[in-house]
This record gives sequence, C-alpha cells and structure tokens, in this order.
Amino acid sequence: MSLGTTATLSTGAKIPLRGYGTWQAEPGQVGEGVYLALKAGYRHLDLAKIYQNQKEVGEGIRKAFAEFGIKREDVFILWANNVSADRLPSSGTELGLEYLDLYLIHWPVAFKSNKQINNLFPRQAGNEKLVEIDDSISIIDTWTAMTKLPKSKARAVGVSNYSIEHLEAIINATGVVPSVLQIERHPYLPNPPLIEYAQKKGIHVTAYSGFGNNSIGWPLIITRPEVKEVAESASKRTGTTVTPAQVLLAWAQVGSISVIPKSVTASRIVENFIEVELTPEEIAKIDALGKENKRFNVPGSVNDPLWPINIFGTPEENEHPEFHKVIISK
Ligand SMILES: NC(=O)c1ccc[n+]([C@@H]2O[C@H](COP(=O)([O-])OP(=O)(O)OC[C@H]3O[C@@H](n4cnc5c(N)ncnc54)[C@H](OP(=O)(O)O)[C@@H]3O)[C@@H](O)[C@H]2O)c1
Repeated sequence: MSLGTTATLSTGAKIPLRGYGTWQAEPGQVGEGVYLALKAGYRHLDLAKIYQNQKEVGEGIRKAFAEFGIKREDVFILWANNVSADRLPSSGTELGLEYLDLYLIHWPVAFKSNKQINNLFPRQAGNEKLVEIDDSISIIDTWTAMTKLPKSKARAVGVSNYSIEHLEAIINATGVVPSVLQIERHPYLPNPPLIEYAQKKGIHVTAYSGFGNNSIGWPLIITRPEVKEVAESASKRTGTTVTPAQVLLAWAQVGSISVIPKSVTASRIVENFIEVELTPEEIAKIDALGKENKRFNVPGSVNDPLWPINIFGTPEENEHPEFHKVIISK
C-alpha cells in the first residue's frame, strides 16, 4: 500500500510524494501505463510535451477516470514544456485537460522558433544532429512570462533543471518564487546544497530518474549490491518483501521530496507505488553511494538531437567550450 504521503506547495495545494513518470514510455505503451498507474492508486502524474506521447497519455487518463470514477481534482497533474517566453501557451494542453496543477519550465534553454508546427527540436542548418538554440531569450524572460499565466489554467508554476544561480536570478528579477523545482536526483547525485537552498525558499523538490536512468548504458542503481542488502534488511525488519526499487524510492522521499518513477511494466507500476520507510542506518547505507557523483541526463551528450549547451558544468559539457551557456539575463 502507498502511505499516501503528500507535501504542501507554497500555493497551499497538496502534491503526493509518489508520482508516475512518462519519459521514454513509448506510444503504444504509455496510455496503458498511465491507465494502470491511476488504477494502482497514483494521483500524481509527470507529463511533458517533449516526451511526444501526450495524445495517448490523455487517452489513458480519460479511460481511467471513466472506469474508476476518478475526478480531475483527485489527481495532481503537471506538465513540463520547454518553450520560449514568446510561445508559452496561455491555456489548455494537447492532453485535453481544462487546467494543470503545475506547469513547469522543463529546461533553462530556449530553442529557435520554427515555423513547422510541432517541430519540437529545430535543427541547425548544416548540422542536423544539433538543436538550434536561441540565445536571445533569457531564463528571466521565460519565468516572467510564466508568472503571468492565468491561475485558472496553471494553478502553480515551477522550473526544472535549474541551479541555485538560475533560481536566484529568476526570483530576484520577478519576486516570484517557483512552487516546485524538478531535478535529477538519485543516490549518485544527491545534491544537498540545491535541495537545502530550494527548501529554505519554500520550493518543493521533485526527484526524477530516481533509479538513475539507463540512457548511457550504466546499470540501474536498483542492481547495486548495497541497495539489495538494504532491501533484504528492510524485508526482515518489516516482515514483508521490500524490493530494491522500493528502497530507492523511500530514500528519495526522505526530507519530503517527491519522486516520479517511470515504468511501463504492469507489475513494476504496482511495486513502485508501495511506500516503505527506512531506518537512519538504511538511509546512511544508500547515502554512501553518493561518492559515484554521476549525472545521467546531460542534454549535450545524451539527447538525440543533441542540445549544444552547458547547463550543469559536467565534465562532458566542459569538454565543449563552443557550447552555448544558459542565458540568465539580457
Ligand atoms: N524534468 C526533466 O528534465 C526530467 C528528465 C528525466 C525524467 N523526468 C521524469 O522522471 C521520470 C522518471 O525518470 P526516468 O524515466 O529517467 O527514470 P527512472 O524512473 O529512474 O527509471 C526508469 C527505468 O527503470 C525501470 N524500472 C522501473 N521500475 C522498476 C522496477 N521496479 N524494477 C526494475 N526496473 C524498473 C523502467 O523500466 P520499464 O519501464 O521497462 O518497466 C525504466 O527502464 C520520467 O519518466 C519523467 O517523467 C523528468
């Protein structure tokens, strides 16, 4: 069973700490995944325009709502979009929803506008492998536009993949503090300074890639012997089977952080919804994995097409001095 743990956003809205992610959930799988997640009890869905599966996600939501009598207000739905300030939609989404509980700026980067409808990743002329980045739009421009969205359509606004420097800049420029910060976070990338900064400002933190996404071929963190050992000790302690995935999700939620595991596998969707609590010793064993210090989601080295921008200052990004920088202000 889920413990149904929630956090309260600065807006007063409640966000369930255990959510369901939809990135790399292929068309043909994602609608069923969302449907099964709602059936299992998830009431927090993480959706995004660039996952290119929105129509089917909307169908899965409508099917589950109809079959299980779920009401729109029962589910916290967030949608991340990566548009430039001049293209923020003022209302609605292709999901077919009347409003969003949270609207996130997905990345601190703007792409060149492109006349082709639905071209999410405008390519550089002469280099189709690279997205064309627009340095004329700053993150302050985009955040300023976000703060003006009607509350009836976007009940809360937030950001994703922003650093302390980025957050400081947008808050200082507008006086508006994002309600949520969504970041890559798992035992290999615990990021205490960013979390401490966000929480001091009253920003709720959501962790993505809680298992350490396998986009670069590293085994998921679930497979680490240390995680398996904690799962075994927690199983003995509680008298029920606690899995490595449940251990990582419990670790993620320490400090009232929400986490949004993705799975399109029916049994794992159910498994990942079960919340367990870890002892301080068990938490410390997982904390020890932090010495890996590994970020997986680096758009300049894993995305297709690549985004030639240095966002996090990782070794992979720093190898490319020609990369764009995050435009903080103009
Ligand atoms: N804001 C952002 O920039 C951003 C970036 C990345 C992700 N996100 C969000 O965060 C969500 C989660 O992150 P993620 O998709 O990168 O990675 P993740 O949830 O850490 O890992 C997903 C992988 O784990 C597997 N998995 C799931 N449950 C499992 C279990 N119980 N046992 C074994 N394997 C399991 C999944 O396989 P199957 O699906 O085959 O079961 C999939 O291969 C995304 O879906 C997306 O919604 C946001």
